[in-house]
Amino acid sequence: MDKESAKNKIEQLSKLIEEHNYNYYVLDQPTISDFEFDKLLEQLILLEKEYPEFLSPLSPSQRVGGQITKVFQSVKHQYPMLSLSNSYNDEDLIDFDRKVREGLGMNEADLFNEGIEYVCELKFDGLSIGLTYENGELKKAVTRGDGVQGDDVTTNAKTIGSIPLKLKGNFPANFEIRGEIFMPRKVFDEINKEREELGEAPLANPRNAASGTMKMQDSKVVAERNLDCILYFLLGEKLPYKSHYQSLEEVKKWGFKVDKNYKLCYNINDVFNFINYWDKERYNLPFDIDGIVIKVNSYKQQQQLGYTAKSPRWAIAYKFKAEQVSTVLDSISYQVGRTGAITPVANLKPVQLAGTVVKRASLHNADIIEKLDVRIGDTVFVEKGGEIIPKIIGVDLNNRKPESKTIEYIKTCPECNAPLIRKEGEALHYCLNENNCPPQVKGKIEHFVGRKAMNIDSLGAETIDQFYKAGLIKNIADLYELKKEQLLPLERMAEKSAQNIIDGINESKKVPFERVLFAIGIRHVGETTAKKIARKVKDIDLLIKNNKEELIQIDEVGETIAESILAFFNDEQNKNLINKLKQAGLQFKVSEEQLSAASNKLEGKTIVVSGVFNNHSRDQIKELIEMHGGKNSSSISKKTSFVLAGENMGPEKHKKAESLGVKIITEEDFEKMIN
Ligand code: IVH
Repeated sequence: MDKESAKNKIEQLSKLIEEHNYNYYVLDQPTISDFEFDKLLEQLILLEKEYPEFLSPLSPSQRVGGQITKVFQSVKHQYPMLSLSNSYNDEDLIDFDRKVREGLGMNEADLFNEGIEYVCELKFDGLSIGLTYENGELKKAVTRGDGVQGDDVTTNAKTIGSIPLKLKGNFPANFEIRGEIFMPRKVFDEINKEREELGEAPLANPRNAASGTMKMQDSKVVAERNLDCILYFLLGEKLPYKSHYQSLEEVKKWGFKVDKNYKLCYNINDVFNFINYWDKERYNLPFDIDGIVIKVNSYKQQQQLGYTAKSPRWAIAYKFKAEQVSTVLDSISYQVGRTGAITPVANLKPVQLAGTVVKRASLHNADIIEKLDVRIGDTVFVEKGGEIIPKIIGVDLNNRKPESKTIEYIKTCPECNAPLIRKEGEALHYCLNENNCPPQVKGKIEHFVGRKAMNIDSLGAETIDQFYKAGLIKNIADLYELKKEQLLPLERMAEKSAQNIIDGINESKKVPFERVLFAIGIRHVGETTAKKIARKVKDIDLLIKNNKEELIQIDEVGETIAESILAFFNDEQNKNLINKLKQAGLQFKVSEEQLSAASNKLEGKTIVVSGVFNNHSRDQIKELIEMHGGKNSSSISKKTSFVLAGENMGPEKHKKAESLGVKIITEEDFEKMIN
């Protein structure tokens, strides 16, 4: 193929693919199979590889992702990104309508009369996004941020099929359009199912999932997450449209996805009807909404009404109440967490609630059960807010069976039968059999291999469970005795993954003392405390000899932590473990290198680290600060000695530092300071 025809072919293919994207993502009416579509895309990608000079940043091939955003640049919004004031009931809305009428100089007595047109829309529950187009091409996608400045997430936004990269029809040369990026419920459920299978914590709700996804550095992962985008607000200079409704009709023609459920209402009664309809119907939508947005339709009237500092006077959000249902409490089960904490869970007669079937609800702790006085067989009220796990909020006493008995909280651990303990002033019961209770043992090992501990990333929760069940590991020291030959017979264990696991375990022997001290899992000894202890005491043998008074001398160590450390080293099983780990070659002393690198050059200095750095990760920078006697802090105050700023330092932090006269230094300044 000659260059000219390659160029033409790339253009032609790009156009065709984008048309199919539009049919699929915007219209929801694909006209070819996924297979045929993939073939077209493959062809395009091949051609672009061969003729990279014709690869446009707006090519549909860019939608599959692959580009990494190291740092999300902060961008000032051309028009501030305001939010809406909220309303929760009819009175609030009548009040809004009255204020609108007043603001437009209409007679207040005209209430319920026609004269003002409102557009009612669904309130999509995602993250707001502003898309800027120039001459029909997507230039920028920016998140709300603080309303004045947001993050440039263009690379990630391009992976969203319903966001047009190039427009069609008769669009203005320059404009911004705002809308909501969200995760359809089906996608959300699939991701969580997968996470559950991998033993990972589920994502809390589709909104968090969407905003978390848009902040990911790898656009390929974003592309896989199948986000969607609905637009609802057009902004620009001297646009020729007279009303919001007209704008919505127009922007659809340019290729944007506008939700089809918006409606023109001629008085506040129509608005109530719209709200009541969607309050019930919302569960049949493929995405979450958390309310309705009501907007004055006419742009002239919008202009007359104007804005307060925070929100437009011409629009309001109506928030739905959390839905409640009643169902029967069948039984209560008790889960044992990694720390031995017991959580009671209600098993319910399955019931439809907020679009899903609910079978379980959290009961939190013994006090809550007592306060609710729930009993087996009771009819209970269940509510679901924005989160996945619903809660029991009350009991229908009219429906109580006379023979029902108050619940007696369990006294022994359901996993290992050890007696449960509840300490004075604490809400939760605990199983203290930490070295033999299965979920606790596995939890300890998971903590031990974690990123901030021994960082053995070839070992996940599922593998640990597998090894535990196979009897290969009963504690953290057993990891260092594992042989590849023992792993190979296990299900789904290939030569390569077995080798990776053994290598990862061996590599962890180099992890410095402070992280080993964190990894062994002394209750209350977190990452920071472990560092403080390691830096002060420097050797585990000395630490074991410390008495309570000596321990309390260490920064960050108080009564509770001191007692916990003493109890840990008093335990024969723990002593044994430490000895075995020592023999395996783990670091139980601060290394010579660490000793010689440390100084007190930053003693007495409180430092705030902000932004991204060239030569170090943020964690490394923070570590260096501590190694040289300084203190890390997250917020700027008069006490801050200086702010260590990398690229992309937050604008709010910058302002605050300047207004308090706190010095801002660079990574290079910092390096000079400590060397
Ligand atoms: S209009 C000037 N319309 O709700 C305000 N917002 O606090 C323009 N939202 O930030 C916003 N659905 O992220 C508008 N149909 C809709 C919406 C909507 C969801 C979000 C948006 C906004 C927040 C309100």
